[in-house]
Amino acid sequence: MEMVTGNMVAAIMEEPMAPLVVRNMPVPVPGKGEVLVKMEAAALNPSDLSMLTGGYAVKPRYPFIPGIEGSGTVVGHGGGLLARLRMGRRVACTSSPGGGGTWAGYMVTSAAKTIPLPTETTFEEGASLIVNPMTVVAFLRILKGGRYRAAVNTAAASALGKMLIRLLKREKLPLINIVRRTNQVATLEEAGAEYILVSSSPGFEEKFASLAERLEADIILDAVGGSLAGTLISKAPPGTRFISYASLSGDNISIDPKELLQQNKSAGGFYLATWLASQSLTSTLSDISKVKRMISSELATEVSASMPLSDINKAVTEYRKQMTRGKIIIKP
Ligand SMILES: NC(=O)c1ccc[n+]([C@@H]2O[C@H](COP(=O)([O-])OP(=O)(O)OC[C@H]3O[C@@H](n4cnc5c(N)ncnc54)[C@H](OP(=O)(O)O)[C@@H]3O)[C@@H](O)[C@H]2O)c1
Repeated sequence: MEMVTGNMVAAIMEEPMAPLVVRNMPVPVPGKGEVLVKMEAAALNPSDLSMLTGGYAVKPRYPFIPGIEGSGTVVGHGGGLLARLRMGRRVACTSSPGGGGTWAGYMVTSAAKTIPLPTETTFEEGASLIVNPMTVVAFLRILKGGRYRAAVNTAAASALGKMLIRLLKREKLPLINIVRRTNQVATLEEAGAEYILVSSSPGFEEKFASLAERLEADIILDAVGGSLAGTLISKAPPGTRFISYASLSGDNISIDPKELLQQNKSAGGFYLATWLASQSLTSTLSDISKVKRMISSELATEVSASMPLSDINKAVTEYRKQMTRGKIIIKP
């Protein structure tokens, strides 16, 4: 066992919907199979915003330190083979359910939730190496495994959406990108998107139906939910598979059962943690190495600003206002 003692600064959520409080607290102690990561950079993702408002899949126990993803150096461990192997390594990491998060000077997490960073990968890149990139390579596995002809993605100006555009372009798989604002079109064109539709523009439903039919789109990856998702399911060609991977609108999806039963459409969900638990070690290791290879290219994340942990409430407010502009990285 190797320990670090003393105090650290952490952002703490003391009760639901309260502003974050930044204060000193003791550095946590890793248990068996766990590592202590000295945090260098931490991302702000939509899942963090859901966690702050109590809407995330994992329900926090208050008070807690938020932050699902980040990067840093392993400076302590509580024993166990993998934890010992990680000692001294620069890693990308995610928090463990029920443990502290990445918005702190140090975080204890399971050694299995760390990925060693290649020498050329910066901490800033490492802060967004797991959640979105691993999801995008999982989507590629789903698309290839199901031999889908063309895909649809919503909230397509997201960091994840841009990764998907670049990766599917490389794979020569057509992708219909749906955004909600006209000013997001240029961003997607820059990322290399060929098919872009704006859901708020006149004639959207007809344009989607005709493009989806022409490209024989047969899978929808949806991050929005609500009425948009219902429209896409209804207007997509027969046989389309619908996968919900987020609920940015916060609204339920209404589906006419006849769409499913008469047109052989199907609906399901994707959650990265569940997906990873269902995959073989070999396929996960192969996906991790693909992510590491592409983290500065197809799977790169744009960063709009870096802020110190003391500005965490400002960072959350700015990110909420301007999600498309790029990620805000916290430097603890
Ligand atoms: N299921 C999983 O395991 C999994 C894994 C990874 C990511 N995700 C999800 O993937 C999504 C993208 O993540 P990210 O980190 O790439 O996001 P991001 O870079 O922060 O971007 C979020 C995007 O969503 C758009 N958006 C927000 N609310 C919207 C709404 N109601 N309708 C349409 N568009 C909306 C924003 O556009 P505006 O500028 O117009 O607000 C922005 O372009 C998130 O919802 C995240 O939770 C899920």
